[in-house]
Amino acid sequence: MARFKAHAPLIIGIGGTTRIGSSSEKVLRAALAEAEKLGARTLLLAGPDLVLPLYAPEEPTRDLKAQRLITAIRECDGVIIASPGYHGSISGMVKNALDYVEDLRKDERPYLDGRAVGCIACAYGWQATGSVLAALRSIVHALRGWPTPLGIAANSLDELFDEQGACTDKVLAPQLRILAEQVVSFAAKAPAEARAFA
Ligand SMILES: Cc1cc2nc3c(=O)[nH]c(=O)nc-3n(C[C@H](O)[C@H](O)[C@H](O)COP(=O)(O)O)c2cc1C
Repeated sequence: MARFKAHAPLIIGIGGTTRIGSSSEKVLRAALAEAEKLGARTLLLAGPDLVLPLYAPEEPTRDLKAQRLITAIRECDGVIIASPGYHGSISGMVKNALDYVEDLRKDERPYLDGRAVGCIACAYGWQATGSVLAALRSIVHALRGWPTPLGIAANSLDELFDEQGACTDKVLAPQLRILAEQVVSFAAKAPAEARAFA
């Protein structure tokens, strides 16, 4: 297990839906739990955290939830995004949240620059997961992030978790470990950060 000598990297999770029992939120939580096992600090922004005004670039102020999201993205060292498939692409809620990254355009480290981003797509059946994953990766690329080599497609029709939220699926569980490892290890290698594995 990787441990950090100095500051543990902050990995944030963005995604899920407003639905109680959201499968994409469960997958996101499980991925963040894997990142924690690797020594990362994590922050989940899901469901109600992402019910934000429609992103308006010309607005001079942001509401408190939007400020929290922007600050979290600014301070993070890596990101994991989980979106449901809505009509063949990512949900409007997740896209709107990602549009707020525009507020980081003038930062020293603009947008998602220098951060690895793990992408997860959840849908009923497999067909939409492919287009959702491709859309997520394309958005991350546009935001100057580094999509991890492994992206995850999860079928929400399957029983994937136990009551404690642990992943019980033999295919998904190791994928979540690998995705978390790719995000965390990239954060540890980031040249701007003075941290190293023990
Ligand atoms: C508005 C809407 C559109 C959807 N469109 C699709 C779709 O195009 N393809 C698909 O496989 N599932 C689709 N679904 C099913 C969702 O992808 C699936 O329920 C997903 O697990 C929802 O995420 P959640 O469990 O986190 O709420 C749609 C669901 C909703 C509510």
